[in-house]
Amino acid sequence: LRSVVRPAERLLKPLQFPHKLLMGPGPSNCPPRVLAAQALPLLGHLHAEFCSVMDDVKAGARYAFQTANAVTLAVSGTGHAAMEAAICNIVEPGDVVLIAKNGHWGARAADMAARHGADVRTIVVPPGEVFTLANIAAAMAEHAPSLTFVCHGESSAGTMQPLEGVGELCRARDCLLLVDTVASLGGAPFFADALGIDVVYTGAQKVIGAPPGVSPISFSERAMARVAARATRVRSYYFDVVELANYWGCDAGPRRYHHTAPISSMYALREGLSMLAEETLEVCWERHLRCARLLWRGIEDLGLKLLVENEDARLPTVTAVVVPDGVAWKRVVEHCMSKHAVEISGGLGPTAGKVWRIGLMGYNATEENVRRVLKVLQEAITACKM
Ligand code: GLV
Repeated sequence: LRSVVRPAERLLKPLQFPHKLLMGPGPSNCPPRVLAAQALPLLGHLHAEFCSVMDDVKAGARYAFQTANAVTLAVSGTGHAAMEAAICNIVEPGDVVLIAKNGHWGARAADMAARHGADVRTIVVPPGEVFTLANIAAAMAEHAPSLTFVCHGESSAGTMQPLEGVGELCRARDCLLLVDTVASLGGAPFFADALGIDVVYTGAQKVIGAPPGVSPISFSERAMARVAARATRVRSYYFDVVELANYWGCDAGPRRYHHTAPISSMYALREGLSMLAEETLEVCWERHLRCARLLWRGIEDLGLKLLVENEDARLPTVTAVVVPDGVAWKRVVEHCMSKHAVEISGGLGPTAGKVWRIGLMGYNATEENVRRVLKVLQEAITACKM
């Protein structure tokens, strides 16, 4: 017998590509130690050694989120999977969900919540701005949601949402608080328990410096009580947190097979979290802020404008730079990549075509990289004047 579809020539060539400096909003470059961890021999998904890796990931995620939540684990999937896992476990059809939308991620959460049957209400400010506590309090009083979603690091606009007081508002109204920290965790102070956050998730490919594909998530006791009181079954088997909590050894029962975890990606996440624990959050937060301030000053020295005017509302990990009139934003991005193998990104969703986004995340958050990206950006803008 002969195969009918012949092997593609392209698959017979070695896998090769240039090294690129990933200075967009993620993924960021992985430290060599994280890449090396992925090359360790495979284990079975319930082997004792792999369960121990999972326990390391749980401990690392608790540290990164600053939580004591028992149900803290990593979803097998990207940040979108963690967003979906959070929403599908908490939301039941007809639930009122309030989404604070000041960019792409609020819009994405609203879409997901609607797909899970929620009655979605939004509170909106333009990209580049953040919500005041009074904005959120008024919306909660108006809509009486059972879940409120806030994005801590809105990477489409480079804003960091202050969260102080939001947890108290939610608790006073029997509402759960869901926070997206995909772009921010590790790069700016964040305290899940002290802020009264019920569900929080992040991605591996940003500050943690691991490849995308496994995403830490944590559920408070209040959140788990809501799950237990559901009138309907969680519509996703894959993301059912009760099943996941068992597989991850977060409940009292013996671990059961639920799905086959992405073993090598979990090694990488473990190593990224281990590096964060070694550096410590305090030092990592300070490093990101120091580099971001250097970048912000450098951008202004080039005569460019930052989208987020209020420095306190700026996300240290992703900076949005307004594209000046007379410059072709896309050609600038292409110039940085083709001439220097440096990635900067365009806008996303409501900021598409209006800003460039420069990421400073994890391994890439260094003063040397800030100087390099500023130099490359300046050259590209000069070359791409229309
Ligand atoms: C992805 O996270 C992005 O902000 O583009």
